[in-house]
Amino acid sequence: MSLYAPKLWQIPAVSEAEAAQQPAKEQVLAARLQEIAERFPQAVFASSLAVEDMIITDQIARLKLPLRIITLNTGKLNPETAALIDETDSRYRIRIEVFRPDAQAADAFEQEYGSAAMYESVELRRRCCHIRKIEPLNRALAGAPAWLTGQRQSQSETRSGLDFEEHDGARGITKFNPIFDWEDGDVWAYAQAHQVPLNALYRQGYPSIGCEPCTRPVKEGESIRAGRWWWENKDTKECGLHK
Ligand code: ADX
Ligand code: SF4
Repeated sequence: MSLYAPKLWQIPAVSEAEAAQQPAKEQVLAARLQEIAERFPQAVFASSLAVEDMIITDQIARLKLPLRIITLNTGKLNPETAALIDETDSRYRIRIEVFRPDAQAADAFEQEYGSAAMYESVELRRRCCHIRKIEPLNRALAGAPAWLTGQRQSQSETRSGLDFEEHDGARGITKFNPIFDWEDGDVWAYAQAHQVPLNALYRQGYPSIGCEPCTRPVKEGESIRAGRWWWENKDTKECGLHK
């Protein structure tokens, strides 16, 4: 790296106060997950293997909740992310169900528009996300009464209105965000306290991780989602999983 390279984002150090609050935050999370599992034992947790999702996975495994855990392997993940699927399975003795895009649709799109289509227009980027994320997610959620995500209010302005329980109007089912009110510090305090398996990209300046072509490291002080679809305006930066 050049001497003049800007300093990249780093995993934040956990303060004493954050470490002290960690057990109480964990108790609230456990109660929320237990409530979800009681009301909707067939709910599905969608994990991107992000640190938020690893925390929820850690609690689901610790509490032995019956919730299914799925991930979307878009076919465009970094190898570091893909490797974490198996690592998480072995660490928690669980089986994360992997959903992949329809190969024909993904190939046809790439043949017609090329592998850099997402940079050409928001419309093509959304079509790629539809084929590689949304359609597989819809398949994963088929028949499920509810689903869970690792989204948090403080991740971005577009998420500031998130709630614990929402109605997913597009799918007609209930949606839960069990750590909707956690700050970055709460997340890293839990990750440290329980040594949750982490995507290796966190140590390379990535605070938020999606597909390889659409994610890059961010500089110190930038917003944690600045490296996602970085060439787009911030208002368009959601892939449609959470409309
Ligand atoms: S995104 O919409 O911008 O891609 P983000 O990466 O912040 O979403 O993740 C928010 C939540 O969406 C995750 O905590 C997870 O619940 C779900 N999610 C995102 N990507 C995936 C994926 N590849 N597989 C499963 N769930 C995902
Ligand atoms: Fe395609 Fe990028 Fe969306 Fe992944 S994030 S599905 S590569 S456009």
